[in-house]
Amino acid sequence: MPIWKGCVELVKAAEKLNIVIVGTGYVGLTTGLALGYLGHRVTCVDKAKEIIDKLDRGISTIYEPGLEELLRDSGKTVTFTENMIDYLPEADLVIIAVGTPSKSNGDTDLSFVEAVAREIGQAMDPASPPLIVNKSTVPIGTARRVQSVIKEELEHRGASGNFCVASNPEFLSEGAALHDTFYPDRIVVGAEDIQAFNLIRQMYAPILEQTFTPPQAVPRPEGYSLPALVTTSPTSAELIKYTANAFLATKISFINEFATLAEKVGADIVEVAKGIGLDKRIGPGFLSAGVGWGGSCFPKDVRSILFTGSQYNCELQLVQTALEVNQRQHKKIIEKLQQTLKVIRGSTVGVLGLAFKPNTDDIRESPAINVIRELLDMGARVKAYDPIAREKYRQAYPDQDLVYCESAMDSARESDALVILTDWDEFRHLPWAEIGESMSSKIIIDGRNMLSSEDLIRSGFIYSGIGR
Ligand code: UDX
Repeated sequence: MPIWKGCVELVKAAEKLNIVIVGTGYVGLTTGLALGYLGHRVTCVDKAKEIIDKLDRGISTIYEPGLEELLRDSGKTVTFTENMIDYLPEADLVIIAVGTPSKSNGDTDLSFVEAVAREIGQAMDPASPPLIVNKSTVPIGTARRVQSVIKEELEHRGASGNFCVASNPEFLSEGAALHDTFYPDRIVVGAEDIQAFNLIRQMYAPILEQTFTPPQAVPRPEGYSLPALVTTSPTSAELIKYTANAFLATKISFINEFATLAEKVGADIVEVAKGIGLDKRIGPGFLSAGVGWGGSCFPKDVRSILFTGSQYNCELQLVQTALEVNQRQHKKIIEKLQQTLKVIRGSTVGVLGLAFKPNTDDIRESPAINVIRELLDMGARVKAYDPIAREKYRQAYPDQDLVYCESAMDSARESDALVILTDWDEFRHLPWAEIGESMSSKIIIDGRNMLSSEDLIRSGFIYSGIGR
């Protein structure tokens, strides 16, 4: 019988829980494997048979440092299945971690979340309900919406029951997903029931108290202190997630806007960012000027919170401007190529980096998509290289007629210019003098400000960064 049913106030921290996680994307899979590693009995559910088949065979469906290792050792605690129904009766918690894509008007498509809620309502035991936890990034009010969908399904069955829906937004960042799960800054829980808080606290107890032995692939960072537990209402928890992402996206757009001014006045934005980031009130993170933010979260979540604002007649002007600055930022690379190459039509441009950021194969809303599309539209030949994301890019954009290269060197060979769009570490250590020799002309546009301009200029390159 689920612990949840008879749970009163404090729970035994050592008790292991039965957890069902629906959705095996970055959030669901990472959370599932981490909770399994901590000893809970986890069932990861996904409707996509090909994903479950792969995970069952120990093959990760996403690239994420440390994930393969955890997957390999997960046999005893983690089960993968297409069908959650068999696992619901025993579940203490059901975590919803399915996708919440954008609609064309910026609103969030909740159909996957609602479908999971319906399935839960159709199959759960009303006499012994699990705690439902929303981990997907969802608009304000979704915890209530999930509650009412489940209730509706129970009523269809002629049943009723007391159950609770909590909000537990996820802050992991791709490329460091396991690290952020095991060593978060904070865990946010929104609920209206003390038992829900207790159960979630129990689930995260090893993380909150850091009592686990770190996995070899994900060591505990030196000096890491215990994460804070923020307990609040579901609505505040939902808003915390959007506010965090809107703030970080705005911080990047802010520095990108000043990068444009820095270029005009002859300052170096890298120095400026360092100079302001040392002020503890500002902080050094998310001040790297560059080609702009992308990924599966910032663009979608910024659009979503703008939509929510508009529904409440509350225009979020700063966030709106952050989005516009970001759209302008994507165009900077083309402008810089026009300034240096002059004529783009007929030229060959090497592109280094397709992923929206390093250490991931995720290309969703990557700046590379717009830059490459524009280059192709302008008549350039594009030779692209990415250490991990090439295949995903090729599958997602089969219509883009570009040459996929096996190495950075390949991409540079006989190119008229090179542009860096993702700050993969390997790009820092390339033999730049040799690369320069293989190019038709030595032009480099460093969209991530990751290289030493002095070194490249010394090797005969025309170097252009962002805001330098
Ligand atoms: C983000 C949030 O950081 C995370 O907390 C949330 O859960 C999901 O969204 P993620 O999208 O994985 O995570 O990547 P992040 O590292 O935040 O970078 C987002 C984008 O901003 C990337 O395109 C990155 O290149 C860009 N970026 C980041 C900058 O341009 N400059 C910076 O200083 C930092």
